[in-house]
Amino acid sequence: MAKTKTTFFCQNCGNQSSKWLGKCPACGEWNTYVEEVISKPDKKHKKYQAEDFKSIPTPVKEITYEKETRVDTRSEELNRVLGGGIVPGSIVLIGGEPGIGKSTLLLQVALNMSKSKILYVSGEESNQQLKMRADRIGINNPDCYILNETFTGEIFRHIGEMGPDIIIIDSIQTLYTDSLESSAGSISQIRETAGELQRFAKTTNIPVILIGHITKDGSLAGPKLLEHMVDTVLQFEGDRHYGFRILRSVKNRFGSTSELGIFEMQSGGLREVSNPSELLLSQRDEDMSGVAIAAMIEGQRPMLIETQALVGPAAYGTPQRSSTGFDLRRMNMLLAVLEKRSGFKMSTKDVFLNIAGGIRVDDPAIDLAVVAAVLSSAEDMAISDNICFAGEVGLSGEIRAVSRIESRISEAEKLGFERIMISRYNIKGIDKKQAKIEIIPVGKVQDFVEKLL
Ligand code: TYD
Ligand code: MG
Repeated sequence: MAKTKTTFFCQNCGNQSSKWLGKCPACGEWNTYVEEVISKPDKKHKKYQAEDFKSIPTPVKEITYEKETRVDTRSEELNRVLGGGIVPGSIVLIGGEPGIGKSTLLLQVALNMSKSKILYVSGEESNQQLKMRADRIGINNPDCYILNETFTGEIFRHIGEMGPDIIIIDSIQTLYTDSLESSAGSISQIRETAGELQRFAKTTNIPVILIGHITKDGSLAGPKLLEHMVDTVLQFEGDRHYGFRILRSVKNRFGSTSELGIFEMQSGGLREVSNPSELLLSQRDEDMSGVAIAAMIEGQRPMLIETQALVGPAAYGTPQRSSTGFDLRRMNMLLAVLEKRSGFKMSTKDVFLNIAGGIRVDDPAIDLAVVAAVLSSAEDMAISDNICFAGEVGLSGEIRAVSRIESRISEAEKLGFERIMISRYNIKGIDKKQAKIEIIPVGKVQDFVEKLL
């Protein structure tokens, strides 16, 4: 009998080692090595013969393909993120924190696609739980089947019998195959089961959607290699205390990765948000200090979002700084610029910053609105609600140009803003007379403070 072959895998990055290691040399994590059996003990090692290989090299110009027809998911936001729908034979991975709504999203999509036969394989929840969720969503697709199974052999047998158009796997970490002896969710099981599904998708042209868990540091649980194996990686994110959910494309072999889908979690499932600006601006009845509106761009979409600041005298020796939805270091940098370039004594003040709607913003164009909100709160003077801002602030206090200024301006115009403050380096090429909105150029933080107050 052959010896059982085992190897140690880093459960964080998938690195392989023949002996146990305390610290992974590849990713630097401690205590992540787990021993896994990589082959069945009695499997005869087979020598490959030349005739085992059937692939033939083909000149590029002789390869033909049909114009890809995409499967419409009946969800405008999901279609957008996928680049126009699901590509037949593709394999899509959706990752996200527990409880964010991955299962809800995909069950809803499955129920909505009434023209397709869908197999929803769940290894996480019972049929009753899924039925309860389906009732909550309240749509019915008679051709949506639920399968409670985690063994891939059994799953493929059912697929063969019922012939679905789309397969959804919830989640890849629960699957196991009998060609390996390690437990479900281990690196080698994930790699093997995902590999089986990938070969299945490619040979049958049936698309497969996988749900993947996320580790505490935000990367997809298990291996980076899972991301390499699939065609598209989507990330579902949001603050659990708010309703908004953002579906981001991280990798897409069939479309752009800058697209973004926005949903709102409601009691009856996820609602698509086609005009995000209206929701991200909180309704204000009266003028409040510490609020400024930024014209930002997320993915390809311009949207207006509210930044809120609270500035007060520091109660303790060290002033408190806290920020939600905006990088804290960047906020500290902006406060330092304000102090140095326009003489505001920020070092003795507590500053709290919040981006409305619980979303996280990386667009540097929001800087100007952050500065405006901080100034407004520090001086306790409300900013008029018909003005918005778009500009990046540099270390020497210059207001820098930002990308796609026209789309920001037209979005602000569309939402009824009367004035927008932008960098004066952005002014070139903009037809100021054509715009219905008044465009106010600013060059330096000092000018900005004067114009604003
Ligand atoms: P779920 O899809 O189970 O998350 P995941 O699969 O990513 O772990 O989402 C569950 C959360 O969504 C749960 O906290 C309840 C909430 N929810 C709603 O608010 N409305 C609904 O209609 C549904 C089905 C769930
Ligand atoms: Mg789930």
